[in-house]
Amino acid sequence: MSNGTSTAITVLGLSGSLRQKSFNSALLRAAIALVPPGMTIAKGSFAEFPIYNADVQAKGFPEPVQTLAKQIRDADAVLIASPEYNYSIPGGLKNAIDWISRVDNQPFNGKLIAIMGASPGRIGTARMQYHLRQSFVFLNSIVLNRPEVMVGNAAEMFDDQGNLTDEATRKIVGELLKALARVVADQHLLKGATR
Ligand SMILES: Cc1cc2nc3c(=O)[nH]c(=O)nc-3n(C[C@H](O)[C@H](O)[C@H](O)COP(=O)(O)O)c2cc1C
Repeated sequence: MSNGTSTAITVLGLSGSLRQKSFNSALLRAAIALVPPGMTIAKGSFAEFPIYNADVQAKGFPEPVQTLAKQIRDADAVLIASPEYNYSIPGGLKNAIDWISRVDNQPFNGKLIAIMGASPGRIGTARMQYHLRQSFVFLNSIVLNRPEVMVGNAAEMFDDQGNLTDEATRKIVGELLKALARVVADQHLLKGATR
C-alpha cells in the first residue's frame, strides 16, 4: 500500500474467468495497458482455491487464499473483470470472495473496488455487477459507482489476439481507471492529513 506521501497507486486485478481466451482476462489486460500515470495493476488469482468448506478453514486457510488475501490487503484498490454466469457472479469468483471474507482483518473491509465485465451478449454483465455490489455491501467495501463498464457484444470488441480494439470501450476503461485514481489520491491525502 502507498504511504500517503507518495502518488504511487497499486491495484490488484482479478479476472472472474479462468478460460484461456477469456474476454474478461483480455479486458483486464487492456486496463493494465491503459493505466493513468502512477498506477500499476498486478494480477491476482483464485485458480487454486478449493471449494469453500468451514471444516477446511478450521484446519487453516489454504496457502492460495492467504496469498490473495495479503495481495488484496496490500493494494490500494481491487479491479475485478468478470463474466456473468446465469445472471449472476461466476461460482469461482464467488467462492474466492467467500474464502477471503473469512480471513482475519477481513481484506475487503473498507477496500476500494472497481468492477468491469464483458459478455458476448448484449447486457454486458450488468446483472452480475449488481450482485457483486450487493456482496460488497456486506463486506463493507467501497465500490466505485461510475463509470459502469459493461462490455456487451464482446466478440466484436476484441481482435483474435484478445486486444481490446473498440475505441469507445478503451475510453470508458480509461475513465474508470482515472476515477479510481482520483478516489485513491483522496484517500492518500486523508491518511496523510490524519497522520
Ligand atoms: C455457466 C455459464 C453461464 C452463462 N450465463 C451467462 C449469463 O447469464 N449472461 C451472459 O451474458 N452470458 C452468460 N454466459 C456466456 C458468457 O458470457 C461467455 O461464455 C463469456 O465468454 C464468459 O466470459 P470469458 O470470455 O471471460 O470466459 C454464460 C456462460 C457460462 C459458461
